[in-house]
Amino acid sequence: MRKKPAATPATAPAASRPFVYRNRTLYCDNISLSSLADDYGTPLYIYSGRQILERFQLFQHAFQDRPHTVCYAVKANSSLAILRLLGKQGAGFDIVSGGELERVRRAHKPALTRVVFSGVGKQAWEIDAALKADILQFNVESEQELDLLAARAQALGIRARFALRVNPDVFAETHPYISTGLSEHKFGIDIKAARVIYRRAMRSKWLEPYGVSVHIGSQIRKVDPFAAALARVEALVSQLRRDGHDIRTVDAGGGLGIDYSDAPFDAAHQVERYAAALIKGLASEKAHLLLEPGRFIVAQAGALLASVLVVKKNGSKTFVITDAAMNDLIRPALYHAHHEILPVRQPSGKAKLITADIVGPVCESGDFFARDRAISALKPGDLVALLDAGAYGMTQSSNYNSRMRPAEVLIDDAKVTLIRRRETMRDLLAPEII
Ligand code: LLP
Repeated sequence: MRKKPAATPATAPAASRPFVYRNRTLYCDNISLSSLADDYGTPLYIYSGRQILERFQLFQHAFQDRPHTVCYAVKANSSLAILRLLGKQGAGFDIVSGGELERVRRAHKPALTRVVFSGVGKQAWEIDAALKADILQFNVESEQELDLLAARAQALGIRARFALRVNPDVFAETHPYISTGLSEHKFGIDIKAARVIYRRAMRSKWLEPYGVSVHIGSQIRKVDPFAAALARVEALVSQLRRDGHDIRTVDAGGGLGIDYSDAPFDAAHQVERYAAALIKGLASEKAHLLLEPGRFIVAQAGALLASVLVVKKNGSKTFVITDAAMNDLIRPALYHAHHEILPVRQPSGKAKLITADIVGPVCESGDFFARDRAISALKPGDLVALLDAGAYGMTQSSNYNSRMRPAEVLIDDAKVTLIRRRETMRDLLAPEII
């Protein structure tokens, strides 16, 4: 998402990632990526379970002095195996659809009571499923939704705990597509209007005002905007208490960014700074804190492994065409996001660097992973790893160009588990009717 000079180092990436060179081959923890390509083919998503849990524990540790629940944002990576891994460690989940609710149920049923349900357009069937699952709270984004929630709660005879997702009108510097906390965005309810809506909700015995939630955007690297948003939420919560509402939770949303570049990145320090900012924002508020990190937990644990199909020149440009494409990882095409790309076979210090566009086979010029990137000379059959692909990679994949989605493997130290098989032609055509 951020612009940086195009360069891929021939050296090992920072230790903030589980992908490191050993014997001149790229490994994920104790498994070589070339052996994974042999065993599972490419394109292949590879995740380090160790790093996912480490990142989760960074949040647990940074917020240990304060009652809190980390509700991992399922949309970042919704693999059942990853949800199970986190659920078993006590994670809650932030969901945005009935599909994500079902994923949590399948992955780790006891976690259903730690689910928060976000989203601007919830449907009756989704609300019903979440009420029956006894989720922790609905993060309500409009008055209409609150009316629908009251109606469904009454119909099912189940009281609904809700938080209004307020829009604090705080600017967070990030890509415009993933910034959400300004009044010009579709998200949340104007923080100034919230008090009246909580008061109105008191009239329905089927609605339980339970919390206040906020989410200002994603891939936010500075922590001040979080503190500013939380300070506004804190002022609202104290007003709500004076109005007689028993507010139990403050949901700070997700959004903490990572470093997609090859600069050293201290993840633990970043989470500590984030925690300090949130706690500063909520200085006098003791409600149970909910957090919804997605990217920070899974992004750097994952890579997309691809094979080089063709290396060709058009005029002065060199194109490295891989068997992975924008349908597998759309972030560069959609947000001009930067992903480091490493050859699996580590080039020697003296290896020749070329400047190339690294692209997929899809019939669009927007199908690129990197443009004018310095990378060691590659030839057909070579393997490359697109780093930091664990978040919003597989979950944003599609079958565009009738391509089958990649397989996914989860690494636990020296053990490899296939957690999703490669799609087949049969999968591709199954829903269609002629
Ligand atoms: N909570 C809510 C209400 C959200 O909308 C999101 C992300 C999160 C939590 C998790 O945010 P995170 O911690 O992952 O930043 N596809 C984009 C990112 C979209 C984020 C959408 N909402 C990307 O690839 O950068």
